[in-house]
Amino acid sequence: MFDQASSLREIMRDVSLHQMVQQNINTNVSQKIPSVIAISGGKGGIGKTLTTANLGLCMARMGMRTLLIDGDFGLANLDVVLNMRPDFTLDDVLSGERHIKQIIMDGPEGLRVIPSSSGVMKVPELDHIQKLALLDQIDELDEEFDLIIIDTPAGVSKNVQYWTTSSTEIIMIVTPEPTSLADCYASIKILAQTTNETNFKLIINMAQNEIEAKRIYEKISLLSDEYIGARIEYLGFIPFDDSVKKSVRERSSYVQKYPFSPASQGMREIARQIMLNGNLGKFKGTTQFFWKKMIKSGNEIRS
Ligand SMILES: Nc1ncnc2c1ncn2[C@@H]1O[C@H](COP(=O)(O)OP(=O)(O)OP(=O)(O)O)[C@@H](O)[C@H]1O
Ligand SMILES: [Mg+2]
Repeated sequence: MFDQASSLREIMRDVSLHQMVQQNINTNVSQKIPSVIAISGGKGGIGKTLTTANLGLCMARMGMRTLLIDGDFGLANLDVVLNMRPDFTLDDVLSGERHIKQIIMDGPEGLRVIPSSSGVMKVPELDHIQKLALLDQIDELDEEFDLIIIDTPAGVSKNVQYWTTSSTEIIMIVTPEPTSLADCYASIKILAQTTNETNFKLIINMAQNEIEAKRIYEKISLLSDEYIGARIEYLGFIPFDDSVKKSVRERSSYVQKYPFSPASQGMREIARQIMLNGNLGKFKGTTQFFWKKMIKSGNEIRS
C-alpha cells in the first residue's frame, strides 16, 4: 500500500545520507574524483545488468552524479534494460572514431550511460593501448561524476579483469543456485590472483529471504577467507520478485516501475549501505587505481 508519510521519510533519509557523503567528498582535498564500482559475479544471467541499472538509479536519486558503463562488449544490454537506443557505442571509442564524451547518453532521472555494442561475432579483447586510452578518456570525466558503475560480462575474461582492476570496489552478485555459488567463489579466487584484490562486496540476488541470503554470504565469506585470504562484505539481498521480470519485459527498471516491490526495497537498502559503508569519494578509480593494482600484483599489462 502506498504510504505518503513513509515514502517522504525515505526521501529525507536519502537526502541526509547524500549530504553526509558529500561532506566526506568535500573535505578530502584530492577530491572531485568519482568512485568506480565494478559489478561482477562469474555466472551469466544472475542479475548483473539489472543491478547496475537499478543501483545506478537509486544512487542518482540520492544525489550522486552517476555514470553507468556497459562493459559487456559484444553482448551489451544495459541500453535495452533502460529503454535507450544508442547511435554510438564503446566500439566507436575503441576504434578511435569518437571520444567517450561524444557517446554518453542521458538515461532516466539524470543517470548518464555509456553503451556498448551487441551482436558482435567476436568479443573484442582489448590490447594494452586500448585499455589505457579508454581509462584516460574515462579519467577526463572526473569532474562530472561522483560515481561510475561498470556492468561487466559473465565469466572472468581479460575484459572482466580489466574492469575490476580499474575499480575502487568490486561487487559480486550471487544467486542461491549452487552453480552460481561455485562460479562466484571461483571468480573471487581468479580475480584475487590476477588483480591482487582482497576486498569484495556481495549482493545475493533472487534470494527467498534474508536468512537464505545470510547463509549464502557466510558460506562464500568463510571459504574466501580461509582459502583465498579475501574479505567479503555483505551488502544486502534482492528477493526473487516477479516485478523484476515484468519490468524487463516493459523495458524499464524495477525501481522506477515498481518502486514498492520487494526487489526495489532490497535495492534501496543496498544503495544506502553503499553510501554508509562504502569508500565513496575516498579513492581514485580508473587509471591511477589500475596502475596501483597492477604494480602491486607484479602483473604485466598483457594485451
Ligand atoms: N530479483 C530477481 N527476481 C526475479 N528475476 C530476476 C531477478 N534478478 C534478475 N532476474 C531475471 O534474470 C534475468 C537476467 O538478469 P540480467 O540480465 O541482469 O543478468 P546478467 O547477470 O547481466 O546476465 P548476463 O550474464 O547475460 O549479462 C532478468 O532478465 C530477469 O528475468
Ligand atoms: Mg548482463
